[in-house]
Amino acid sequence: MGTTGIHSLALALLCCTCLLSTTYGDYSGGYKLVSLSNYSDGKGLVAYLKSIDDGNFTYGPPVEELQLTVRFETDDRLRVKITDGKKDRWEIPEWIVPRGAKSSEVASLTSSEPEKQGEVSVGDSSFKFSYTSEPFGFAVSRSSGEVLFNTTPNGDIGSLVFKDQYLEITTHLPEKSVLFGLGESTRPDGLRLAPGRVYTLWATDIGSNIPDIDLYGTYPFYMDLRKGVAHGVLLLNSNGMDVLYERDSLTYRVIGGILDFYFFAGPTPLSVVDQYTQLVGRPAAMPYWSLGFHQSRYGYKNLEELEEVVAKYAAAEIPLETMWSDIDYMDEYKDFTTHPVNYPEDKLRTFVEKLHANDMRYVIIVDPGIAIAENYSTYQRGLDLDVYVRNQYGEKYLAQVWPGPVYFPDFLHPNAEEFWTTEVVKFHKKIPFDGLWIDMNEAANFCTGPSCFINPDVVCPGDDYTICCLICNNTVPMSTWDDPPYKINCIGKYRELNGRTIAMSAQHHGGVREYDTHNLFGLTESIMTNRALKTLTKKRPFVLSRSTFVGSGAYTAHWTGDNGASFNDLAYSIVSCLNSGMFGVPMVGADICGFLDDTWEELCNRWIQVGAFYPFARDHGDFHSIHQELYLWDSVASNAKVVLNLRYKLLPYYYTLIFESHNTGAPIMRPLFFEYPEDEKTMDINTQFLVGRGIMVSPVVAAGQDTIAAYFPPGVWYNAFNNSDIVKVEGSGELLVLPAPLDTIQVHYRQGFIIPMQEAAMTTTSARRTPFTLMVVFGDEDEAEAAGELFLDDGEELEMRVKAGRSTFVKFSAHKFQGKGSIEAKVTAGEFALSQHFVLHKITILGLREPPSRVRLTGNLAPVMSPALEISSSGLRSVDISHLNLSLSESFGLSWDFDFDSIASS
Ligand code: NOJ
Repeated sequence: MGTTGIHSLALALLCCTCLLSTTYGDYSGGYKLVSLSNYSDGKGLVAYLKSIDDGNFTYGPPVEELQLTVRFETDDRLRVKITDGKKDRWEIPEWIVPRGAKSSEVASLTSSEPEKQGEVSVGDSSFKFSYTSEPFGFAVSRSSGEVLFNTTPNGDIGSLVFKDQYLEITTHLPEKSVLFGLGESTRPDGLRLAPGRVYTLWATDIGSNIPDIDLYGTYPFYMDLRKGVAHGVLLLNSNGMDVLYERDSLTYRVIGGILDFYFFAGPTPLSVVDQYTQLVGRPAAMPYWSLGFHQSRYGYKNLEELEEVVAKYAAAEIPLETMWSDIDYMDEYKDFTTHPVNYPEDKLRTFVEKLHANDMRYVIIVDPGIAIAENYSTYQRGLDLDVYVRNQYGEKYLAQVWPGPVYFPDFLHPNAEEFWTTEVVKFHKKIPFDGLWIDMNEAANFCTGPSCFINPDVVCPGDDYTICCLICNNTVPMSTWDDPPYKINCIGKYRELNGRTIAMSAQHHGGVREYDTHNLFGLTESIMTNRALKTLTKKRPFVLSRSTFVGSGAYTAHWTGDNGASFNDLAYSIVSCLNSGMFGVPMVGADICGFLDDTWEELCNRWIQVGAFYPFARDHGDFHSIHQELYLWDSVASNAKVVLNLRYKLLPYYYTLIFESHNTGAPIMRPLFFEYPEDEKTMDINTQFLVGRGIMVSPVVAAGQDTIAAYFPPGVWYNAFNNSDIVKVEGSGELLVLPAPLDTIQVHYRQGFIIPMQEAAMTTTSARRTPFTLMVVFGDEDEAEAAGELFLDDGEELEMRVKAGRSTFVKFSAHKFQGKGSIEAKVTAGEFALSQHFVLHKITILGLREPPSRVRLTGNLAPVMSPALEISSSGLRSVDISHLNLSLSESFGLSWDFDFDSIASS
């Protein structure tokens, strides 16, 4: 819910304003560099800049003196920070967004004479930093000389502007730059940023069905791909901003904080995400069960409905891992309560226990607004701990959400953790939920204003919960935070900064303004929720947050919010999920079948075909829409079984991707250009995606199709549903038309990879008990390689790393040469796999010219000609080696050959 009172059509029109003509550099005479000191370790400098006052006070007077700090932090990361030289300004605290590992060395500074222009480079760094003194500008280049970011003023690039509430800086972009990132928004343009657009970064409660406007999360991070070589740029700043993208420039217009740039050298898209998440936090380890299929709905009237849904999934034999409750379960929408009639506590508890007994899970929603209600102990404890956000006068800030009047917890308050943890722990004693869904945390407020009051004459909430029923006087002179001089382009100027959120003048602990921290609300709530769950369960938490920021991935999963039930929304969901992965939040999905408006059979069919491959696969529908559980249409049910069966077989692969993302930041769901950065065509592929490196999904995302035109990079691609339909592309990539009637989605294995799999089952727990298969995928060359990995642990312990007795890691490699071939598995810390009796039963080899006539095992096992091995060839290229019974606790080798003589003599 988020679009109340705003019609999509009106917004569609408004969105034209997102295409603005850009002028920059009009607001200041810029700065000149007046003093400079170098770090004794040679890894950077500190300089002071003085304003060249030209009397232009648009948006306020310039900050007179600035401090510039340049630090070569690692070989592939450079930080350039510009702030007030004389007094502190708002900076994101390190506990909210860490700044990566710090080197322990402390370097002293030695002053030197500033030159007209200067340059710093460091031995192993990928970067060079250079500056011009007057007017001041800086450039970041690769050590090879390629300029990546260039703010040097010239006819086109304006000078640096640094005012209290307006910061502007422009970088020049060369023709070959292709940019990605700057979220969160729904992107009909596709993955590539579109020149001429303004990307407004402001956490906003609004439907993600509306394209090209600021949505729930904010990511001032972009990736620049230049002829196959990538770098990344993060502006670590939590204030509202417009980022104007033109073909040859990118301009930041920021309304506060500091300019704190981090440059990541890449050179591949994956290494950029690695370097970025190394700084801001690696994606959280996610519990194994969270990879199962989830069902949710806003508007399950009572517990009986939940029971019915669970029973119907079982009857339809569609795997259901997790049942969700939206706000319906609450008593008058009060957090941490249950509705006495519709969801009585004891019965809800029994329901959850029954789910658990069947290896299923239960996740519930919690909103940040705490109802102001007598005899509501959560509210009371919040008062006692004094954790509520205050208005500019120091009174508790009154807002309105579902329960009516609320106060918001201040997640920056030192008591916030105690408050939130206490509530989570107490509630868990009543209802043993498995994860928390934190919604409305932009934060959404149905009223607007710096200070509102309860209207004693009306019942609040009224019939429509989303209509403001507080008294909010928005005509009084507004503070400079509520009404700053520069207006960012919130929903195409449809909203003020204060619009339907906490007022900007409101205060957090220590007098910190909402103005500075607004975009951090969802992240700080995620941190507190994650901590609360860790304290409670001592296990890996599952948190799903709507609002996110740089670094959120370390604490939470994300869904793309209130999409619509339309084919466009289905198509755009792919770009939204791919972007989330790029932002370091890889556990992501969109509401399957669509949230707003009524879905229909064809759409739901196509959506589950895509959604089954989202990292986070949840069907969620709106209160006002028809039901959309997968069993409701026969065709959807049968398609769901097919695609979810494949997903469940692939669980070991998906889980290993979570492990990879936790270690390197690599997204689970990846754009094609991540793997083929040199192939320019892949930059425009917006509705196909890769899962990890080894699987490509090419779905239908439009109505009435029975074929799909899909782009295939060179190589051999094997249909993952039957292993035998093959697409072979030589030379350069090709757009091919494949069959895709309603019961078909094209999913392919990519040559060169080994995919660990298990059997399909109704829950992830049952699937984990089934034997393993390896899918070894070769190209059709005479000689070829394939490789893969498998990470195994109990799926819920806090740490996700290779640790003796607690987890096992296996690296697979395979090689084929003419009629011969071999596969090797190298096991690290095998004890865990042994304790769990994890065994490999089957190896399927794709891409053999002829079936092997002999297979032998090597390694720790005595070499044997194994008559027990059954080799069946299901066509020219797919060979199963079955009945292996190899423990995944020990390294092994297996080789095969083809006995030409026996064929010749027969
Ligand atoms: C808004 C969320 O985006 C949606 O998923 C949820 O159903 C409603 N709030 C009601 O809680």
